[in-house]
Amino acid sequence: MTDVADLAGIPLFARLSRDEAAELASRFETKPVGEGVRLASEGAAGYSFYVLVDGGAVVTLEGVPVASLGPGDFFGEMAILGEGRRTATVTTTSPTKVLTLFGTEFRRLQQSHPAIAALLEDAMRRRAQELLAVQRNAPA
Ligand code: CMP
Repeated sequence: MTDVADLAGIPLFARLSRDEAAELASRFETKPVGEGVRLASEGAAGYSFYVLVDGGAVVTLEGVPVASLGPGDFFGEMAILGEGRRTATVTTTSPTKVLTLFGTEFRRLQQSHPAIAALLEDAMRRRAQELLAVQRNAPA
């Protein structure tokens, strides 16, 4: 259960009404995470989607940093929408506050509140497509 105030100011949730935000907040867990914690491991099974409320994280592919994430950024959508495997490693670079949504909870939301789930899923799918396009264009 997340305080709805934690969702304020996060672009991913900008289009939600107050009631929708409250519903969604009830599905997310909030947790403080220390620096240097690996939240996703490339190739491993992944069961959660994450949003950074504050702090930062680095995305690495085979140990090479490819992106930095900051407050309001999300990650973990690839495993939740796709085949359940993490496509990259994500490690915190400072103490952070992280919102976590389990894939099972996301699927429950799709059943009970399809409009809210669709808003979230649109953003997740857009992002997943951008990342797949980057991967396709990357040198082998
Ligand atoms: P997922 O594969 O579930 O777990 C690792 C996450 O890192 C992935 O979802 C994306 O959210 C994110 N990610 C993967 N590749 C990149 C990349 N090239 N740049 C930024 N983020 C990425």
